[in-house]
Amino acid sequence: MRNVYLDNGSTSFPKAPGVGRAMVEFIENIGCNVNRGGYRSSYSLSEKILETREKLRDFFGFNRESNVVFTPNVTFSLNYIIHGLLRAGDRLIITSMEHNAVARPAETARLRGVDLAIARCDEKGCLDLEDFKRQITADTKAVVMLHGSNVCGSLMPVAEVGKLCKERGVFFIVDAAQTAGVFPIHMKEMNINGLAFTGHKGLLGPQGIGGLLLDDKLAQAISPIIDGGTGSRSDSIVMPDFMPDKLEPGTMNLPGILGLSAALDYVIEKGVDNIRAEELKLTRLFMEAFISRSSVRVVGPGAGEERCPIVSLDFTDKDNAEVAFRLDNEFGIMTRCGMHCAPLAHKTLKTFPQGTVRFAFGHRNTEEEVAYAVDAIERILSD
Ligand SMILES: Cc1ncc(COP(=O)(O)O)c(C=O)c1O
Repeated sequence: MRNVYLDNGSTSFPKAPGVGRAMVEFIENIGCNVNRGGYRSSYSLSEKILETREKLRDFFGFNRESNVVFTPNVTFSLNYIIHGLLRAGDRLIITSMEHNAVARPAETARLRGVDLAIARCDEKGCLDLEDFKRQITADTKAVVMLHGSNVCGSLMPVAEVGKLCKERGVFFIVDAAQTAGVFPIHMKEMNINGLAFTGHKGLLGPQGIGGLLLDDKLAQAISPIIDGGTGSRSDSIVMPDFMPDKLEPGTMNLPGILGLSAALDYVIEKGVDNIRAEELKLTRLFMEAFISRSSVRVVGPGAGEERCPIVSLDFTDKDNAEVAFRLDNEFGIMTRCGMHCAPLAHKTLKTFPQGTVRFAFGHRNTEEEVAYAVDAIERILSD
């Protein structure tokens, strides 16, 4: 049986060419640590890490490589921001489409006294901007919001929200898990104070590496939530107060950073716009096959609307989990069924508790694979 990978919302596959090579080269031929060795290979590794920070700085329309922080993934990045920034009495606004990477730390913050507001989104997963505006009060400290939904592909109006946050003096933090590498993100132009990303999805890098980019004001306002060795100011038992060391305790995922660096080279060369155009073409082709079927609800924005290459289907006459199981078992098609770590989003989309079957297209999927998946679904529907 053939294999068709349509679970790129979870993690992209295959990774960018060159990622594996860069990681193996490091593990087999370099292997040393960074900031913790007084020899040439360690210095040269420091340069490569700095180059990766510079690439990320430019890629996300930012201006300060020292404020590019490496973390294991976007979940850690969001926790660093939410718990490092917010104190009891501060107001935090999120949306009703958030992944648990935002919703859970926000809820934990609420339990320690943060005033948590959840801005409304409609049944297509799009933000109600008027409701959002009403939620911004004088004691609002931060807005944390995903850019693209991992459930239905809807996009948040980050540029408009960024402008509003700037006018109201509120920190604006974006979870770019589903859009980094697929949509152009310009922190300065979009007035984003903090950007959290993960390396293993649209950036086509390995698992276990992600990061955050913080402007100076936000970087200063955040206290470290994890303390430890940084290889700098080792005579002190308190964390350094300068970036990125302030937020980078412990040995970093060096093979991961080098793999991410190779992935960025590929994405930059291929072009984010080209990647998005190819993925959205496949998405539309797939969606059009089901748009007028009464036994399938295509959840989220329509095929012609602005969206991410993620489609959720709710099979009204079938059990969604069984459809996903049969797609894998009988056709070798890999999807993801259930809640997608986003119960708030499924409640918003009215697909709670049954969940959906999610099809997430990637840069290496083909039109032929889309046709194969459509045909497989038709066969399951006709049983
Ligand atoms: C919107 C969104 N935020 C956060 C995450 C968490 O990503 P990671 O597991 O890489 O931290 C995901 C992953 O599915 C996501 O889609």
